[in-house]
Amino acid sequence: MPDARQLLEQLHQRQALADAGGGAARVAKQHKKGKLTARERLDLLLDRDSFVELDRFVTHRSTDFGLDQQRVPGDGVVTGSGRIDGRLVYVFSQDFTVFGGSLSETHAEKICKVMDLALRNGAPVIGLNDSGGARIQEGVASLGGYADIFLRNTLASGVVPQISAILGPCAGGAVYSPAITDFIFMVRNVSYMFVTGPNVVKTVTHEEVSFDELGGADTHLGTSGVSHFVHDSEPECLQAIRALVAFLPLNNLDDPPLRPTEDPADRRDEALLDLIPDSPAKPYDMHGVIGRVVDDGAFLEVQRGYAENIVVGLARLGGRPVGIVANQPAVLAGVLDINASVKAARFIRFCDCFNLPVVTFVDVPGFLPGVAQEHGGIIRQGAKLLFAYCEATVPKLTVITRKAYGGAYDVMSSKHIRGDVNLAWPTAEIAVMGPKGAVEILFRDEIATADDPAAATARLIEEYTLKFAHPYAAAARGYIDDVIDPRDTRPRLIDALRTLRTKRDRNPPKKHGNIPL
Ligand code: HXC
Repeated sequence: MPDARQLLEQLHQRQALADAGGGAARVAKQHKKGKLTARERLDLLLDRDSFVELDRFVTHRSTDFGLDQQRVPGDGVVTGSGRIDGRLVYVFSQDFTVFGGSLSETHAEKICKVMDLALRNGAPVIGLNDSGGARIQEGVASLGGYADIFLRNTLASGVVPQISAILGPCAGGAVYSPAITDFIFMVRNVSYMFVTGPNVVKTVTHEEVSFDELGGADTHLGTSGVSHFVHDSEPECLQAIRALVAFLPLNNLDDPPLRPTEDPADRRDEALLDLIPDSPAKPYDMHGVIGRVVDDGAFLEVQRGYAENIVVGLARLGGRPVGIVANQPAVLAGVLDINASVKAARFIRFCDCFNLPVVTFVDVPGFLPGVAQEHGGIIRQGAKLLFAYCEATVPKLTVITRKAYGGAYDVMSSKHIRGDVNLAWPTAEIAVMGPKGAVEILFRDEIATADDPAAATARLIEEYTLKFAHPYAAAARGYIDDVIDPRDTRPRLIDALRTLRTKRDRNPPKKHGNIPL
């Protein structure tokens, strides 16, 4: 019978075997590709020495295709809990050096275990994905494992934040687990996501496309809108996940974490007064407004590079995390189109799930006209944004900086759809449409018969502008709570947030709404 020390030695050997993953040669291959190992990634993601591993001795139970001769403790995924800035998170990190990180029945069971713990204990789940997909030798058992994960992703949605980093291949149905999570991070030249790879695409549709073009990081940021953040290296990506977590509550019953700031709550900003150009047709960058209003100018933009006519992201006001949604006049005049609507709708719903107040900066000429937009379903897609704002019960603060025209006025967190505090700058124009369009419709005959149509148009536009292109008609009805000095925007928003700390609002009891998907 071995003594206690020998047994301990045995334990250390088994631990070392698990730590070694697929062995030195495969680790070297991983490094040669410019990739980190599963454990190196966790070291960078989590606070030092905070990782508590689970299931490191789990092995698969398969015997087909010689698998009984190949058992690696951990079975290709490192799972457990750890801390980010001292706060609990659950993690899984797929180990490409073991069967290419492929998902077996037991590999899936390990992931499900941490997801169940995260849900029960109310903490975020962060998945680091690097996998060849379903473990081919296991067949349907592996597919079942994926489905078990998809179900848990769905049940955890809106209960605990779920974050996915794609740090290698992610193909086939495997893409759908990250797709259900709240945020997807990708790394250039490392991450790939597609339902079918370039070879299958070539066979089926005869299209020739590279891995990068089909499913690389920039494709999913700029074209498909699948990913939310793209970075140039894995360490940068893992640091960025930490920065994101710092804004989030641990679960839907928790408040987002306060971070004290030196930036005074009553700070006025002179530059805001001159930020809006004289001509309503001239663009300006809404980032300038956001940066001058939020704590320390710090703004974590989500999906920067996709549908840039709307800007969404996280910031703090008076130390309190908030979600920011802002039309971007510098891109397509800030018009709402299909992609912008869907991008903002998903972000607002995330904020509403996790108790993040939504601050909306409005400068919007309306929804984008055109055959492509109509045929693409701008009705259905724009309705998502409207639905998301309407159903959100978190504090909703709105600042109209310039245009708020037509249906887009209603949609962008207006008073009518439960905006809590709606403010306008004196430069705001709240109307059914812009002066030029309105005059051309209302006075078509008068202009056509005028001696000088151009002069008549100019005169009518001026009259219309004086009558409607300002915030006071809306303010006269209480649709705007106040017209403010732009320099006071930060103090006013912080004050409003304080007032709304005790806000109580809820939607009628129901199983769930039917958002127009
Ligand atoms: C078992 C796998 C595997 C898999 C890779 N490996 N994928 N083992 N099941 N799915 C193993 C390889 O045999 C190899 O083992 C090691 O992992 C590394 O793989 P390489 O091919 O050497 O790496 P690389 O050249 O980087 O290529 C990576 C890859 C390629 C592009 C991912 O391995 C690949 O195409 N794999 C198959 C992908 C696939 O078709 N998966 C099923 C998708 S369907 P050794 O011992 O040599 O180191 C799917 C359905 C999910 O996933 C459904 C959910 C509903």
